[in-house]
Amino acid sequence: MSNPEGNTENRAILVTGGRQLSGEVAASGAKNSALPLICASVLADGPVTLTNVPRLDDVLSICELLESLGAKCAFDGGSLTIDPTSITRQDAPYELVRRMRASFLVLGPLLAKFGHAEVPLPGGCNIGPRPVDEHLRALGEMGAEIEFKKGVVYAGAKKLRGEQVYFNITSVGATENVVMAAMGAEGVTVLENCAEEPEVADLVNFLRSLGADIKTPGSKRLEVRGGLALKQREPYSIIPDRIEAGTFLLAVAATGGGGTVKRCEPAHLTALTEKLREMGVGLRAEGNDITLAPNGRLKATKVRTQPYPGFPTDLQPQITTVLTMAQGVSVVTESVFEQRFSYLPELKRMGANIIQQDNAAIVDGTGVRLTGAPVDGYDLRGVAAMTIAGLMAQGETLIRGFGHLVRGYEDFIAKMEGLGADIRLVDKDYELKNNHG
Ligand code: EPU
Repeated sequence: MSNPEGNTENRAILVTGGRQLSGEVAASGAKNSALPLICASVLADGPVTLTNVPRLDDVLSICELLESLGAKCAFDGGSLTIDPTSITRQDAPYELVRRMRASFLVLGPLLAKFGHAEVPLPGGCNIGPRPVDEHLRALGEMGAEIEFKKGVVYAGAKKLRGEQVYFNITSVGATENVVMAAMGAEGVTVLENCAEEPEVADLVNFLRSLGADIKTPGSKRLEVRGGLALKQREPYSIIPDRIEAGTFLLAVAATGGGGTVKRCEPAHLTALTEKLREMGVGLRAEGNDITLAPNGRLKATKVRTQPYPGFPTDLQPQITTVLTMAQGVSVVTESVFEQRFSYLPELKRMGANIIQQDNAAIVDGTGVRLTGAPVDGYDLRGVAAMTIAGLMAQGETLIRGFGHLVRGYEDFIAKMEGLGADIRLVDKDYELKNNHG
Protein backbone atom coordinates (compact mmCIF):
# COMPACT_ATOMS: atom_id res chain seq x y z
CA MET A 1 0.00 0.00 0.00
CA SER A 2 1.49 3.32 -0.93
CA ASN A 3 0.74 6.91 -0.13
CA PRO A 4 -1.52 8.33 -2.88
CA GLU A 5 0.29 11.70 -2.65
CA GLY A 6 3.66 10.11 -3.58
CA ASN A 7 6.90 11.56 -2.19
CA THR A 8 6.07 14.27 0.35
CA GLU A 9 9.53 15.13 1.63
CA ASN A 10 10.71 17.42 -1.12
CA ARG A 11 7.46 19.23 -1.62
CA ALA A 12 5.87 22.24 0.01
CA ILE A 13 2.48 23.89 -0.29
CA LEU A 14 2.33 27.19 -2.14
CA VAL A 15 -0.71 29.34 -1.40
CA THR A 16 -1.45 32.70 -2.97
CA GLY A 17 -3.79 34.58 -0.69
CA GLY A 18 -6.60 37.01 -1.25
CA ARG A 19 -9.23 34.79 -2.89
CA GLN A 20 -12.56 34.23 -1.20
CA LEU A 21 -13.36 30.53 -0.99
CA SER A 22 -16.80 29.41 -2.15
CA GLY A 23 -18.66 26.31 -3.29
CA GLU A 24 -18.85 22.86 -1.75
CA VAL A 25 -16.50 20.35 -0.20
CA ALA A 26 -17.30 16.92 1.25
CA ALA A 27 -15.81 15.62 4.49
CA SER A 28 -13.94 12.28 4.41
CA GLY A 29 -14.20 9.55 7.03
CA ALA A 30 -12.63 10.37 10.39
CA LYS A 31 -8.93 9.55 10.79
CA ASN A 32 -9.27 9.31 14.56
CA SER A 33 -12.08 6.77 14.20
CA ALA A 34 -10.40 4.78 11.45
CA LEU A 35 -7.25 4.17 13.53
CA PRO A 36 -8.89 2.61 16.62
CA LEU A 37 -11.44 0.72 14.51
CA ILE A 38 -8.68 -0.85 12.44
CA CYS A 39 -6.93 -1.88 15.69
CA ALA A 40 -10.24 -3.25 17.03
CA SER A 41 -10.53 -5.54 14.01
CA VAL A 42 -7.86 -7.70 15.74
CA LEU A 43 -10.64 -8.78 18.13
CA ALA A 44 -12.87 -10.24 15.41
CA ASP A 45 -13.14 -13.95 14.62
CA GLY A 46 -13.29 -13.28 10.87
CA PRO A 47 -12.68 -10.57 8.27
CA VAL A 48 -13.95 -7.06 8.96
CA THR A 49 -14.90 -4.46 6.34
CA LEU A 50 -14.89 -0.75 7.10
CA THR A 51 -16.31 1.81 4.66
CA ASN A 52 -15.78 5.58 4.39
CA VAL A 53 -12.11 4.94 5.26
CA PRO A 54 -9.88 7.93 4.45
CA ARG A 55 -6.75 7.15 2.38
CA LEU A 56 -4.22 8.76 4.71
CA ASP A 57 -0.63 8.06 5.67
CA ASP A 58 -1.67 7.28 9.26
CA VAL A 59 -4.28 4.79 8.05
CA LEU A 60 -1.72 3.13 5.78
CA SER A 61 0.75 2.99 8.69
CA ILE A 62 -1.70 1.25 11.03
CA CYS A 63 -2.48 -1.26 8.25
CA GLU A 64 1.25 -1.83 7.82
CA LEU A 65 1.48 -2.50 11.55
CA LEU A 66 -1.31 -5.10 11.47
CA GLU A 67 0.27 -6.69 8.39
CA SER A 68 3.59 -6.94 10.25
CA LEU A 69 1.71 -9.05 12.83
CA GLY A 70 0.31 -11.30 10.09
CA ALA A 71 -3.09 -9.72 9.33
CA LYS A 72 -4.22 -9.08 5.75
CA CYS A 73 -5.47 -5.63 4.74
CA ALA A 74 -7.00 -4.78 1.36
CA PHE A 75 -8.36 -1.45 0.12
CA ASP A 76 -11.10 -1.23 -2.46
CA GLY A 77 -11.80 2.47 -3.00
CA GLY A 78 -12.95 3.85 0.35
CA SER A 79 -13.53 0.42 1.79
CA LEU A 80 -10.95 -1.56 3.74
CA THR A 81 -11.12 -5.26 4.57
CA ILE A 82 -8.94 -6.60 7.36
CA ASP A 83 -8.52 -10.30 7.98
CA PRO A 84 -7.12 -10.71 11.51
CA THR A 85 -7.37 -14.53 11.51
CA SER A 86 -3.83 -14.88 10.14
CA ILE A 87 -2.19 -12.87 12.98
CA THR A 88 0.72 -14.87 14.38
CA ARG A 89 2.75 -12.20 16.19
CA GLN A 90 1.98 -9.83 19.04
CA ASP A 91 5.06 -7.57 18.89
CA ALA A 92 4.59 -4.19 17.25
CA PRO A 93 7.71 -2.92 15.44
CA TYR A 94 9.30 0.21 16.90
CA GLU A 95 9.65 1.83 13.45
CA LEU A 96 5.87 1.94 13.05
CA VAL A 97 5.00 2.95 16.62
CA ARG A 98 7.58 5.73 16.39
CA ARG A 99 5.98 7.00 13.21
CA MET A 100 2.54 7.19 14.76
CA ARG A 101 1.49 7.27 18.40
CA ALA A 102 -1.92 5.78 17.68
CA SER A 103 -0.09 2.48 17.04
CA PHE A 104 -0.17 2.06 20.82
CA LEU A 105 -3.88 1.26 20.40
CA VAL A 106 -2.98 -2.30 19.30
CA LEU A 107 -1.98 -3.08 22.87
CA GLY A 108 -5.52 -3.52 24.25
CA PRO A 109 -6.88 -5.72 21.45
CA LEU A 110 -3.73 -7.92 21.27
CA LEU A 111 -3.83 -8.45 25.02
CA ALA A 112 -7.55 -9.27 24.94
CA LYS A 113 -7.23 -11.69 22.03
CA PHE A 114 -3.88 -13.38 22.69
CA GLY A 115 -3.18 -12.70 26.38
CA HIS A 116 0.09 -11.06 25.44
CA ALA A 117 1.38 -7.93 23.65
CA GLU A 118 4.71 -6.19 23.13
CA VAL A 119 4.39 -2.57 22.07
CA PRO A 120 7.16 0.05 22.22
CA LEU A 121 6.37 3.16 24.26
CA PRO A 122 5.48 5.84 21.75
CA GLY A 123 7.40 8.68 23.47
CA GLY A 124 6.72 12.36 22.89
CA CYS A 125 5.78 14.16 19.72
CA ASN A 126 5.57 17.68 18.38
CA ILE A 127 2.50 18.60 20.43
CA GLY A 128 3.75 17.41 23.83
CA PRO A 129 5.04 14.48 25.90
CA ARG A 130 1.74 12.54 25.68
CA PRO A 131 2.30 9.78 28.25
CA VAL A 132 0.35 6.48 28.26
CA ASP A 133 0.35 5.97 32.04
CA GLU A 134 -3.45 5.89 32.24
CA HIS A 135 -3.69 3.14 29.60
CA LEU A 136 -1.23 1.00 31.56
CA ARG A 137 -2.60 1.70 35.04
CA ALA A 138 -6.09 0.67 33.93
CA LEU A 139 -4.83 -2.53 32.28
CA GLY A 140 -2.85 -3.29 35.45
CA GLU A 141 -6.04 -2.92 37.53
CA MET A 142 -7.67 -5.45 35.23
CA GLY A 143 -4.96 -7.99 36.05
CA ALA A 144 -2.40 -7.39 33.29
CA GLU A 145 1.24 -7.74 34.26
CA ILE A 146 3.12 -4.85 32.75
CA GLU A 147 6.89 -4.78 32.34
CA PHE A 148 9.20 -2.35 30.58
CA LYS A 149 12.34 -3.57 28.83
CA LYS A 150 14.43 -1.38 26.53
CA GLY A 151 11.57 1.00 25.87
CA VAL A 152 9.08 -1.76 25.12
CA VAL A 153 5.90 -2.45 27.11
CA TYR A 154 5.38 -6.17 27.71
CA ALA A 155 1.81 -6.81 28.79
CA GLY A 156 0.55 -10.25 29.71
CA ALA A 157 -2.55 -11.69 31.33
CA LYS A 158 -3.79 -15.28 31.32
CA LYS A 159 -7.22 -13.75 31.74
CA LEU A 160 -8.07 -10.09 32.24
CA ARG A 161 -10.67 -9.39 34.95
CA GLY A 162 -13.64 -7.09 34.63
CA GLU A 163 -13.05 -4.36 37.24
CA GLN A 164 -14.21 -0.89 38.15
CA VAL A 165 -11.69 1.50 36.57
CA TYR A 166 -11.64 5.26 37.08
CA PHE A 167 -9.56 7.33 34.65
CA ASN A 168 -7.71 10.19 36.37
CA ILE A 169 -7.48 12.05 33.07
CA THR A 170 -10.06 12.17 30.31
CA SER A 171 -8.09 10.42 27.59
CA VAL A 172 -9.37 9.40 24.18
CA GLY A 173 -6.62 6.82 23.65
CA ALA A 174 -6.80 5.32 27.17
CA THR A 175 -10.59 4.94 26.94
CA GLU A 176 -10.27 3.26 23.54
CA ASN A 177 -7.41 0.94 24.52
CA VAL A 178 -9.13 -0.19 27.71
CA VAL A 179 -12.55 -0.71 26.07
CA MET A 180 -10.85 -2.98 23.53
CA ALA A 181 -8.94 -4.85 26.25
CA ALA A 182 -12.18 -5.28 28.22
CA MET A 183 -13.56 -7.34 25.32
CA GLY A 184 -11.28 -10.15 26.50
CA ALA A 185 -11.94 -9.79 30.24
CA GLU A 186 -13.95 -12.09 32.43
CA GLY A 187 -17.13 -10.34 33.58
CA VAL A 188 -18.08 -6.70 33.31
CA THR A 189 -15.57 -3.85 33.23
CA VAL A 190 -16.98 -0.55 34.43
CA LEU A 191 -15.08 2.47 33.14
CA GLU A 192 -15.57 5.90 34.67
CA ASN A 193 -14.47 9.36 33.57
CA CYS A 194 -14.23 8.11 29.98
CA ALA A 195 -13.60 10.38 27.01
CA GLU A 196 -16.82 11.14 25.16
CA GLU A 197 -15.39 12.12 21.78
CA PRO A 198 -17.51 11.00 18.80
CA GLU A 199 -14.60 8.76 17.77
CA VAL A 200 -14.86 6.86 21.08
CA ALA A 201 -18.60 6.48 20.48
CA ASP A 202 -17.83 5.23 16.96
CA LEU A 203 -15.53 2.55 18.39
CA VAL A 204 -18.24 1.49 20.84
CA ASN A 205 -20.83 1.33 18.03
CA PHE A 206 -18.45 -0.64 15.82
CA LEU A 207 -17.77 -3.17 18.60
CA ARG A 208 -21.52 -3.46 19.22
CA SER A 209 -22.02 -4.11 15.50
CA LEU A 210 -19.63 -7.08 15.91
CA GLY A 211 -21.73 -8.43 18.79
CA ALA A 212 -20.18 -6.71 21.83
CA ASP A 213 -22.29 -5.87 24.86
CA ILE A 214 -21.36 -2.32 25.88
CA LYS A 215 -23.71 -0.14 27.88
CA THR A 216 -23.46 3.63 28.19
CA PRO A 217 -25.61 4.14 31.28
CA GLY A 218 -24.53 7.61 32.28
CA SER A 219 -22.27 10.46 31.58
CA LYS A 220 -18.65 9.41 30.96
CA ARG A 221 -19.38 5.81 32.06
CA LEU A 222 -19.11 2.60 30.03
CA GLU A 223 -20.01 -0.95 31.09
CA VAL A 224 -18.32 -3.57 28.95
CA ARG A 225 -19.12 -7.28 29.14
CA GLY A 226 -16.12 -9.36 28.11
CA GLY A 227 -15.72 -12.79 26.60
CA LEU A 228 -18.26 -12.60 23.77
CA ALA A 229 -17.32 -13.83 20.28
CA LEU A 230 -17.07 -10.91 17.86
CA LYS A 231 -17.93 -11.38 14.20
CA GLN A 232 -18.97 -8.95 11.49
CA ARG A 233 -22.29 -9.37 9.69
CA GLU A 234 -22.20 -6.27 7.50
CA PRO A 235 -19.67 -3.55 6.64
CA TYR A 236 -19.37 -0.69 9.11
CA SER A 237 -19.22 2.93 7.95
CA ILE A 238 -16.84 5.30 9.76
CA ILE A 239 -18.22 8.67 10.95
CA PRO A 240 -17.28 11.88 9.09
CA ASP A 241 -14.10 13.65 10.12
CA ARG A 242 -15.25 16.58 12.28
CA ILE A 243 -11.76 18.08 12.41
CA GLU A 244 -11.37 18.03 8.64
CA ALA A 245 -14.87 19.53 8.27
CA GLY A 246 -14.03 22.18 10.89
CA THR A 247 -10.77 23.03 9.13
CA PHE A 248 -12.66 23.74 5.88
CA LEU A 249 -15.31 25.79 7.69
CA LEU A 250 -12.57 27.90 9.26
CA ALA A 251 -10.76 28.23 5.91
CA VAL A 252 -13.94 29.50 4.21
CA ALA A 253 -14.71 31.89 7.08
CA ALA A 254 -11.11 33.13 7.11
CA THR A 255 -11.42 34.39 3.54
CA GLY A 256 -14.83 36.00 4.10
CA GLY A 257 -16.30 33.55 1.62
CA GLY A 258 -19.47 31.47 1.69
CA GLY A 259 -19.69 27.75 1.11
CA THR A 260 -20.96 24.36 2.20
CA VAL A 261 -19.20 21.49 3.93
CA LYS A 262 -21.17 18.41 2.94
CA ARG A 263 -21.32 14.91 4.43
CA CYS A 264 -20.36 16.09 7.90
CA GLU A 265 -22.12 15.61 11.24
CA PRO A 266 -23.18 19.08 12.49
CA ALA A 267 -23.93 17.71 15.98
CA HIS A 268 -20.21 16.91 16.37
CA LEU A 269 -19.23 20.47 15.47
CA THR A 270 -21.38 22.54 17.82
CA ALA A 271 -18.44 23.95 19.82
CA LEU A 272 -16.99 25.32 16.57
CA THR A 273 -20.22 26.53 14.99
CA GLU A 274 -21.13 28.44 18.17
CA LYS A 275 -17.72 30.15 18.09
CA LEU A 276 -18.14 31.01 14.42
CA ARG A 277 -21.51 32.62 15.21
CA GLU A 278 -19.89 34.62 18.02
CA MET A 279 -17.28 35.76 15.53
CA GLY A 280 -20.01 37.08 13.25
CA VAL A 281 -20.33 34.26 10.71
CA GLY A 282 -23.83 33.50 9.41
CA LEU A 283 -24.29 29.75 9.40
CA ARG A 284 -26.94 27.10 8.72
CA ALA A 285 -26.81 23.38 9.54
CA GLU A 286 -29.15 21.12 7.60
CA GLY A 287 -28.95 17.32 7.53
CA ASN A 288 -25.29 16.52 6.90
CA ASP A 289 -24.40 19.95 5.53
CA ILE A 290 -23.14 23.13 7.14
CA THR A 291 -23.38 26.27 5.02
CA LEU A 292 -21.57 29.51 5.80
CA ALA A 293 -22.75 32.88 4.50
CA PRO A 294 -20.11 35.33 3.28
CA ASN A 295 -18.90 37.51 6.14
CA GLY A 296 -17.19 40.84 6.67
CA ARG A 297 -14.41 41.44 9.18
CA LEU A 298 -14.72 38.85 11.96
CA LYS A 299 -14.93 39.64 15.67
CA ALA A 300 -12.50 38.55 18.40
CA THR A 301 -13.57 35.83 20.84
CA LYS A 302 -12.37 33.59 23.69
CA VAL A 303 -11.58 29.93 23.04
CA ARG A 304 -10.60 27.24 25.57
CA THR A 305 -9.79 23.77 24.33
CA GLN A 306 -11.35 20.95 26.31
CA PRO A 307 -12.30 17.31 25.94
CA TYR A 308 -15.49 16.79 23.90
CA PRO A 309 -18.06 18.35 23.90
CA GLY A 310 -15.69 21.29 24.54
CA PHE A 311 -13.76 23.06 21.82
CA PRO A 312 -11.38 20.51 20.18
CA THR A 313 -7.64 20.99 20.57
CA ASP A 314 -7.35 19.68 16.99
CA LEU A 315 -8.98 22.90 15.74
CA GLN A 316 -7.07 25.26 18.03
CA PRO A 317 -4.25 26.20 15.60
CA GLN A 318 -6.76 26.81 12.81
CA ILE A 319 -9.10 29.05 14.82
CA THR A 320 -6.20 31.00 16.36
CA THR A 321 -4.99 31.67 12.82
CA VAL A 322 -8.40 32.98 11.78
CA LEU A 323 -8.44 35.23 14.87
CA THR A 324 -5.17 36.93 13.83
CA MET A 325 -7.26 39.17 11.56
CA ALA A 326 -10.43 39.44 13.69
CA GLN A 327 -11.35 42.84 15.13
CA GLY A 328 -10.33 43.06 18.81
CA VAL A 329 -8.36 40.94 21.27
CA SER A 330 -8.94 37.17 21.41
CA VAL A 331 -7.67 34.80 24.09
CA VAL A 332 -7.09 31.18 23.10
CA THR A 333 -6.31 28.83 25.99
CA GLU A 334 -4.88 25.37 25.26
CA SER A 335 -5.71 23.00 28.09
CA VAL A 336 -5.20 19.60 26.43
CA PHE A 337 -1.69 19.62 24.87
CA GLU A 338 0.81 22.05 26.40
CA GLN A 339 3.02 22.28 23.33
CA ARG A 340 0.39 23.00 20.75
CA PHE A 341 1.52 26.57 20.05
CA SER A 342 4.60 25.72 17.96
CA TYR A 343 3.07 27.54 14.99
CA LEU A 344 2.73 30.91 16.76
CA PRO A 345 6.23 32.19 15.83
CA GLU A 346 5.48 31.34 12.18
CA LEU A 347 2.23 33.36 12.29
CA LYS A 348 4.13 36.26 13.82
CA ARG A 349 6.56 36.15 10.91
CA MET A 350 3.55 36.74 8.67
CA GLY A 351 2.58 39.85 10.66
CA ALA A 352 0.25 38.44 13.34
CA ASN A 353 0.11 40.27 16.65
CA ILE A 354 0.28 37.50 19.27
CA ILE A 355 1.67 37.18 22.77
CA GLN A 356 1.91 33.76 24.39
CA GLN A 357 1.40 33.65 28.16
CA ASP A 358 1.80 30.12 29.52
CA ASN A 359 -0.93 28.07 27.86
CA ALA A 360 -2.77 31.06 26.38
CA ALA A 361 -2.30 32.98 23.15
CA ILE A 362 -3.44 36.59 23.25
CA VAL A 363 -4.20 37.64 19.71
CA ASP A 364 -4.92 41.22 18.67
CA GLY A 365 -6.31 41.24 15.15
CA THR A 366 -7.16 44.94 15.08
CA GLY A 367 -5.89 46.40 11.82
CA VAL A 368 -3.74 43.35 11.05
CA ARG A 369 -3.14 42.20 7.47
CA LEU A 370 -1.03 39.04 7.14
CA THR A 371 1.71 38.95 4.50
CA GLY A 372 2.93 35.78 2.82
CA ALA A 373 6.27 34.25 3.92
CA PRO A 374 8.06 30.91 3.87
CA VAL A 375 6.86 29.08 7.02
CA ASP A 376 7.21 25.69 8.66
CA GLY A 377 4.40 23.51 9.99
CA TYR A 378 5.55 21.15 12.73
CA ASP A 379 2.51 18.91 13.06
CA LEU A 380 -0.65 17.99 11.18
CA ARG A 381 -2.94 20.73 12.51
CA GLY A 382 -0.12 23.28 12.46
CA VAL A 383 0.30 22.78 8.70
CA ALA A 384 -3.46 23.10 8.18
CA ALA A 385 -3.37 26.35 10.17
CA MET A 386 -0.48 27.74 8.13
CA THR A 387 -2.41 26.96 4.95
CA ILE A 388 -5.33 29.01 6.29
CA ALA A 389 -2.86 31.80 7.11
CA GLY A 390 -1.68 31.62 3.49
CA LEU A 391 -5.25 32.00 2.22
CA MET A 392 -5.70 35.11 4.40
CA ALA A 393 -2.33 36.67 3.55
CA GLN A 394 -1.33 39.07 0.86
CA GLY A 395 0.94 37.42 -1.72
CA GLU A 396 2.53 33.98 -1.66
CA THR A 397 3.07 31.72 1.37
CA LEU A 398 5.26 28.62 1.18
CA ILE A 399 4.40 26.02 3.81
CA ARG A 400 6.88 23.26 4.57
CA GLY A 401 5.61 20.16 6.34
CA PHE A 402 3.43 18.59 3.64
CA GLY A 403 4.37 15.17 5.07
CA HIS A 404 2.45 16.04 8.25
CA LEU A 405 -0.61 17.09 6.27
CA VAL A 406 -1.01 13.84 4.34
CA ARG A 407 -1.13 11.96 7.65
CA GLY A 408 -4.54 13.42 8.36
CA TYR A 409 -6.20 15.24 5.44
CA GLU A 410 -7.40 13.29 2.41
CA ASP A 411 -7.03 15.08 -0.95
CA PHE A 412 -6.45 18.36 0.88
CA ILE A 413 -4.97 20.27 -2.05
CA ALA A 414 -7.69 19.12 -4.48
CA LYS A 415 -10.44 19.92 -1.96
CA MET A 416 -9.02 23.42 -1.38
CA GLU A 417 -8.74 23.94 -5.15
CA GLY A 418 -12.38 22.86 -5.44
CA LEU A 419 -13.29 25.75 -3.11
CA GLY A 420 -11.38 28.13 -5.36
CA ALA A 421 -8.11 28.42 -3.41
CA ASP A 422 -4.96 29.29 -5.31
CA ILE A 423 -2.91 26.39 -3.94
CA ARG A 424 -0.44 23.93 -5.38
CA LEU A 425 2.54 21.76 -4.50
CA VAL A 426 6.00 23.05 -5.38
CA ASP A 427 9.59 22.14 -4.62
CA LYS A 428 10.37 22.86 -0.94
CA ASP A 429 13.12 25.28 -2.05
CA TYR A 430 10.75 27.38 -4.17
CA GLU A 431 11.59 31.09 -3.92
CA LEU A 432 8.64 33.33 -3.17
CA LYS A 433 7.80 36.15 -5.52
CA ASN A 434 7.98 39.63 -4.04
CA ASN A 435 4.98 39.81 -1.72
CA HIS A 436 5.02 43.57 -1.38
CA GLY A 437 5.23 44.52 -5.04
N1 EPU B 1 -2.63 11.82 28.88
C1 EPU B 1 -1.92 11.44 30.00
N2 EPU B 1 -1.79 10.09 30.25
C2 EPU B 1 -2.34 9.14 29.47
C3 EPU B 1 -3.06 9.54 28.32
C4 EPU B 1 -3.21 10.88 28.06
O1 EPU B 1 -1.40 12.26 30.74
O2 EPU B 1 -2.18 7.93 29.74
C5 EPU B 1 -2.80 13.25 28.59
C6 EPU B 1 -2.17 13.69 27.27
O3 EPU B 1 -0.80 13.97 27.42
C7 EPU B 1 -2.99 14.90 26.93
C8 EPU B 1 -4.40 14.53 27.44
O4 EPU B 1 -4.18 13.50 28.40
O5 EPU B 1 -2.52 16.02 27.62
C9 EPU B 1 -5.38 14.04 26.39
O6 EPU B 1 -4.75 13.07 25.57
P1 EPU B 1 -5.56 11.89 24.87
O7 EPU B 1 -5.09 10.59 25.40
O8 EPU B 1 -7.03 12.20 24.94
O9 EPU B 1 -5.07 12.04 23.37
P2 EPU B 1 -4.73 10.87 22.35
O10 EPU B 1 -5.67 9.75 22.52
O11 EPU B 1 -3.27 10.60 22.39
C10 EPU B 1 -6.38 11.72 20.50
C11 EPU B 1 -6.27 12.13 19.06
C12 EPU B 1 -5.56 13.45 18.97
C13 EPU B 1 -6.35 14.49 19.76
C14 EPU B 1 -6.52 14.02 21.21
C15 EPU B 1 -7.38 14.95 22.06
C16 EPU B 1 -6.21 10.00 17.93
C17 EPU B 1 -5.44 9.03 17.13
N3 EPU B 1 -5.55 11.10 18.32
O12 EPU B 1 -5.04 11.61 20.97
O13 EPU B 1 -5.54 13.82 17.59
O14 EPU B 1 -5.68 15.72 19.75
O15 EPU B 1 -7.12 12.71 21.23
O16 EPU B 1 -8.63 15.10 21.49
O17 EPU B 1 -7.38 9.81 18.20
C18 EPU B 1 -4.76 14.90 15.66
O18 EPU B 1 -5.62 14.27 15.01
O19 EPU B 1 -4.11 15.86 15.18
C19 EPU B 1 -4.49 14.51 17.04
C20 EPU B 1 -3.38 14.85 17.69
